[in-house]
Amino acid sequence: MSGIEKNIHWTSKWRCPSNIALVKYWGKHDFQKPMNPSLSFVLQNAFTETSVELLKEADRKVEFYFEGAASDFGERIEKYLDSISSHLPWINKYNFRIRSHNSFPHSAGIASSASSFGALALCLAEIDFAISGREPDHPDLWLKASELARMGSGSACRSVYPGFAIWGQTQLFESCRDEHAIMVYEGIHPMFYGLRDAILMVDSGTKQVSSSVGHELMNDHIFQRSRIAQAHQNISELYLALLTGNQEKFIEVVENEALSLHAMMMTSNPSFILLKPNSLELISRIRRFREKAKIPVSFTIDAGPNIHLLYFKKDELDVKAFIERELLDFCENGKWIDDRIGKGPMRIT
Ligand code: DP6
Repeated sequence: MSGIEKNIHWTSKWRCPSNIALVKYWGKHDFQKPMNPSLSFVLQNAFTETSVELLKEADRKVEFYFEGAASDFGERIEKYLDSISSHLPWINKYNFRIRSHNSFPHSAGIASSASSFGALALCLAEIDFAISGREPDHPDLWLKASELARMGSGSACRSVYPGFAIWGQTQLFESCRDEHAIMVYEGIHPMFYGLRDAILMVDSGTKQVSSSVGHELMNDHIFQRSRIAQAHQNISELYLALLTGNQEKFIEVVENEALSLHAMMMTSNPSFILLKPNSLELISRIRRFREKAKIPVSFTIDAGPNIHLLYFKKDELDVKAFIERELLDFCENGKWIDDRIGKGPMRIT
């Protein structure tokens, strides 16, 4: 953290990955708090790199560059900085210069808000620790970054850790909070650190429904109470499966969560069907392959039509051959993205 230009007071740069939820966050309460607990893992190849420079003291002004060019996203960042100003008292005293770029294309069907707000929040948390004279390696830095990320985009709070993270109150751990995510690593069966995610692109077009509109649909959803109960049960069962290496349970819960998320959208008012015919074809082919080849493949889906095919490292060759042979015809322009569970964010010096 040093000044290169004379008028730069503080600077910080981070790489932060995107994440994919296995138990889905769907619905909010209060300010950006989740209606139910969620569990995810970070990706390795899909990340955002962001640098923040605090320029000489002034009224706050934000210059935002995305992939080298001035971007409209600056307005969303201004609003975000307003919303977190009570957490970072110094925030209104500087001009900001923020530069950001993603390792993946915008249309890749990967949650870019998670990696973007994760990276920005890590920069802000690090600067906050520096300004207040706290050690940058203090464990509280991650909690602070997670909380700040959550206020930009809920799922972003799970992106600031390596491997698996849980966000939202559950009976699993006393330390689980709605305010920030926690890292889950102790006792996880080593097999799950070899998780692979093949993102099968069905449609790279813009989202039919934004996630904030989607979350709102849960406010008076007829299945709201049962969805919350289901997520609590699924997170407990999935966590146990992660500890014991229970692949069958893992597959059962993960697919149930993905389809329940879409069931919520289909049965909300207004109703949305985000899956496409090719999404359904991919799902049935994945299930058929699991039965026939006896290889533990499964799928998860975000709020869109693309299918995340999950599998384990030991099956890599067989699964890649299966993708090439049987799935590519159902992907947009035969496109899929090869990713895996990741090592988490990285400070860039
Ligand atoms: C379906 O985190 O994108 O991907 O808090 O409004 O920014 P906001 O929503 P966002 O919602 C993600 C929903 C999801 C499931 C998940 O990631 O848990």
